[in-house]
Amino acid sequence: MLKPKVFVTRRIFPEALDMIAAKTDMELWEDELPPPKDILLEKVKDCQGILSLLTDELDTEFFKTAKHLRVVSQIAVGYDNIDIEEATRRLIPIGHTPHVLNAATADMAFLLMMASSRRLVESQTFVKEGGWKTWHPMHFLGPNVSGATLGIVGMGRIGLEMATRARGFDMEVLYTDPNRRSLEDEQKYNLKYQDLDELLTKSDFISLHVNLTPKTHHLISKREFQLMKPTAVLVNTARGSIVDHAALYNSLKKGDFFAAGIDVTDPEPLQKDDPLLSLDNCIVVPHIASASFSSRLDMSKLAAWNLLAGLNGETLPNCANPGVYELN
Ligand code: DGY
Repeated sequence: MLKPKVFVTRRIFPEALDMIAAKTDMELWEDELPPPKDILLEKVKDCQGILSLLTDELDTEFFKTAKHLRVVSQIAVGYDNIDIEEATRRLIPIGHTPHVLNAATADMAFLLMMASSRRLVESQTFVKEGGWKTWHPMHFLGPNVSGATLGIVGMGRIGLEMATRARGFDMEVLYTDPNRRSLEDEQKYNLKYQDLDELLTKSDFISLHVNLTPKTHHLISKREFQLMKPTAVLVNTARGSIVDHAALYNSLKKGDFFAAGIDVTDPEPLQKDDPLLSLDNCIVVPHIASASFSSRLDMSKLAAWNLLAGLNGETLPNCANPGVYELN
């Protein structure tokens, strides 16, 4: 029997590639950089499945070209690079990889909170550049994480992981979300619901955990930065364009708030000469919040399962547009 053709747009864990190769006629894009748009379109013309990354643009033109596509399996929890309405209209299920990266992402958000407040990168650079001449009572001061107030914007799976960690640091946790959690959850995780403005005004640390949608694009901009405490720290491990980066630069430079730690940027990748990189009070890492060995292995396997289930006509273990099954 003819095996279904699939295109895998980047090298992932071998365990997952072996699963896919055993059941399909797989083509793997070996380059470190994403396939250029024209090549992506050429490759998917005859494919029944694709394993995509958040750096691949799966827009209306993509779906028009990929006429034989039965499933998209994205190795990421986010899928803002995919025209999901178009996929749903064409009854193509979109697989994604939630759950398995919650802990790793929250760990990174906490790391960025601590590294930004206690000026880890700036002080390491100081040592490397020979600036350390003596212990000084006024050197590299920053706000305490322990006992501070953490504002979580978006109380989904990763937001809850943040709240769990915050407990160990004796923090007060405020949160905002279009869907307020149940009273039971609020008690269990010790959460206080606030609207965004109140949260920004009261928090010492603000961590973003919302999806990127037209509503959350530039959710945090000049006005919001001005609401924040001058000692506050902003952390973004969600998507870069939830924050207005021009305003971020201006506010950090002016000292509207203390520091930012960002794992995601707008654009991505951030160029070497981006003004944000000239600031001592901004730590930027290259979208690696889920990059623990076990999370990325689990994401790879989940992506393979989603892909193979879709090719078999089965319901995907993790489907971002379950509406396709109701329309079918
Ligand atoms: C995601 O999964 O959406 C992250 O941004 C990458 O792990």
